[in-house]
Amino acid sequence: MSKRFYITTAIDYVNGQPHLGHAYEKVVADVIARSRQSLGHEVFFLTGLDEHGQKVQQAAIAEGKTPQQYCDDLAVDWKRFVQTLGLSNNDFIRTSEQRHKAAVQAILGKLHREGHFYKAQYRGFYSTRQETFLTEKDRRPDGTFDPIYEPVNELIEENYYFKMAAHQQWLIDYIEKNPTFIQPDYRRNEVLGFLKNETLEDLCITRPVARLSWGIPVPFDEAYVTYVWFDALVNYFSVPIAHGDPVAVSAFPELGVRPIGPELWPADIHLIGKDILKFHAVYWPIMLKAMGAPLPKQLLVHGWWQKDGQKISKSTGNIIDPIAVIAEWGLDAFRYYVTRELDIGPDGNWTDAGFAARYNAELANGLGNLLNRSVSMLKRYRNGIVPKRSDELGPELAGYVGEVRQLLSENELQRALQAIWKIVNRANQYVDQTAPFKLAKDPAQAARLDEVLYNLVESCRLIAICLWPFLPQTAEKIFAQLGLKEEPNRLSAAQWGGLKEGHQTSDPVALFPRKDQPKAK
Ligand code: MSP
Repeated sequence: MSKRFYITTAIDYVNGQPHLGHAYEKVVADVIARSRQSLGHEVFFLTGLDEHGQKVQQAAIAEGKTPQQYCDDLAVDWKRFVQTLGLSNNDFIRTSEQRHKAAVQAILGKLHREGHFYKAQYRGFYSTRQETFLTEKDRRPDGTFDPIYEPVNELIEENYYFKMAAHQQWLIDYIEKNPTFIQPDYRRNEVLGFLKNETLEDLCITRPVARLSWGIPVPFDEAYVTYVWFDALVNYFSVPIAHGDPVAVSAFPELGVRPIGPELWPADIHLIGKDILKFHAVYWPIMLKAMGAPLPKQLLVHGWWQKDGQKISKSTGNIIDPIAVIAEWGLDAFRYYVTRELDIGPDGNWTDAGFAARYNAELANGLGNLLNRSVSMLKRYRNGIVPKRSDELGPELAGYVGEVRQLLSENELQRALQAIWKIVNRANQYVDQTAPFKLAKDPAQAARLDEVLYNLVESCRLIAICLWPFLPQTAEKIFAQLGLKEEPNRLSAAQWGGLKEGHQTSDPVALFPRKDQPKAK
């Protein structure tokens, strides 16, 4: 068996509301996963939920539920969200699952035995109201803490720490020697800058059970649980172990898992937002090195969305509800806007007007109109039967398909969509230039009309295949209208000439009905 292309997303906090940022990241990961599948790879796409921690425990208590019950209830919504987004994920990890806890405990045990942890006393100020440690930076100029933190108590707490500093130079060297490990480059430089200028502090990996019980019990000290990052990051590795991936399993023979599953580790891409870069680019590689496991091939870091130039925030009401947008405009319109509008890396800005403009111009008028004209004219003038092959647009479009293929293999999603729209625009221009509706009126032009119609429907077929990673439902609808039974999920099928003479196409149906008046928000 060959190694699968293994891509992961960040696992979302179970107690948050699914919002645009979550939806964006998951859709981008899905487009990459489907692109690789279309390029001929076997893919494993993982997403899931981060469920432990104090906030979850408190919220559960407030609702009169056990933390597990509380998480189980919320997980139903998150799993529905994954379906609403049309994700092709192969697994969905919840950190409260036994398969995950077993892996975390095995890792903790091994690193403890090998001397990576120590226990130390922490003395500091703690805000019970905010459940957070305060530092000198949190003091106001007069030396007091803001009343939002009160009551603030001095707290002495013993915890386990993971020794970090010993690995600092190794990590710098690794990132310098592997320029594609962190992408885009400016994120890589950010991490290198940080590593070169600051001494890494040791990572606190536990909480006393007395204060937090909703975590994973530490196998070597029952008075403690581990939670948050040591727990969450391991999801990328606990799933390969659970599936019997030979590389992951071989690092932890004590788990007794047979190494007969798909080859997954190392991950090819961890897709994450810019806010959690340090955890993935510093702590996770060091954890893996200590575990004796290879590092993931790439951390692909995306930017953050704003709406109307302002931070997305529930408290100010500046939010986008992806579920509502999808209900109003359709899933593929949402997937199109987020991947076309924002490249992977920089921050983006959502505007309702921008969304409606792209919908109308690019989806309804551009793509929708092309398909509709092509399928309708073939039906009207040739009873929907594909005429003899003609290669008039073939060489030019093969160039664009080549561009799409190349860009998809480089995760250049936005540019790939631009390349696909070169095909859409060229084919629409071809309609205007050849004027098939005029040709149809002149029986002497029958052969020319055949050529034009062939070029149009064949262009639509290529477009559907190129589009499938982004807009799977739309690609399938195009294939259905072209009377094609197979799935449009193989780029190798995007060779000119796939539609055969005499093939019967189906009826035209509008892909993206025009919406002249976007609903005021
Ligand atoms: N649970 C941690 C991640 C653990 S990964 C081992 C977490 N969860 S989160 O729910 O807060 O965020 C999940 C992902 O959503 C992160 O990658 C984060 O960057 C992303 N986004 C959250 N808000 C966002 C925007 N406004 N825009 C784009 N993505 C954003 O962090």
